Amino acid sequence: MIKIENLYRSFDGNEVFRGISLEVMKGEVLALIGRSGCGKSVLLKHVAGLMKPEKGRVVVDGREMDVARGRSLTALRDRLGFLFQGGALFDSMNVFENVAFPLKEKTKLSDKRIQTKVLEELDNVGLSGSEYKYPSQISGGMVKRAALARALVGDPEIMLFDEPTTGLDPVTGHDIIKLIDACHRRLHFTGIVVTHEISTVFTIVDRVAMLNEGVVWADGTPSELFSSKDPIVRAFVGDSDGRGKREGGMHEKV
Ligand SMILES: Nc1ncnc2c1ncn2[C@@H]1O[C@H](COP(=O)(O)OP(=O)(O)OP(=O)(O)O)[C@@H](O)[C@H]1O
Ligand SMILES: [Mg+2]
Repeated sequence: MIKIENLYRSFDGNEVFRGISLEVMKGEVLALIGRSGCGKSVLLKHVAGLMKPEKGRVVVDGREMDVARGRSLTALRDRLGFLFQGGALFDSMNVFENVAFPLKEKTKLSDKRIQTKVLEELDNVGLSGSEYKYPSQISGGMVKRAALARALVGDPEIMLFDEPTTGLDPVTGHDIIKLIDACHRRLHFTGIVVTHEISTVFTIVDRVAMLNEGVVWADGTPSELFSSKDPIVRAFVGDSDGRGKREGGMHEKV
């Protein structure tokens, strides 16, 4: 469903990608991990067609994003949901209006139908009762849930989640990852999740790709990454072995 071939990209002489190749099969969820600044957000933007490759190809459902323009790019984007890093809502709109926004913009559904869908989606993310609150009146975890509902309300076939848990306490972050899993089971989208919540996300994804030094440094199932002998992979996932971190409580992630 998503195929990235030998992608190169630099900004002002700083080479962020030096030949990224990666595939995500239909219905699969991939965790994308790596240090801050390694290019995770930039990679998602290439998948969404918001940035163009300098060299290499990004193919989504058989169509090359760089070549897809105009109507065909819009059609592809309509099938894609993006939860941006920061998960921003429109401050001037309440939760209901935020979630209804993409349906009003992109579809010809009746107001009644939009209302039903929005209320359903808010119920799915556990926000029933907060429809008419404004972003400033709800907690960070609720903002993420609302942003998730907004990204999912159009029933996307492809979902890109950019750090859906950043800025949340570990328990709420864990809940959001579990919620993404529940949404995946319901909607069967193909997804990429960027997160630092490694121990939780590894329990819900099929595969993991770790970016480092401009390439896919490691790629495999969560258990393959946990058992990797590579020191750079170990330094990153080593202490998050999927056991005990949450139960064990307070030790710092290195
Ligand atoms: N629009 C842009 N213009 C110039 N440089 C950019 C742009 N977007 C990203 N970069 C640079 O590309 C690199 C990768 O950025 P990116 O935001 O993808 O990192 P990241 O892996 O998502 O990090 P984090 O975990 O902190 O979100 C950084 O060095 C960043 O400064
Ligand atoms: Mg980022």
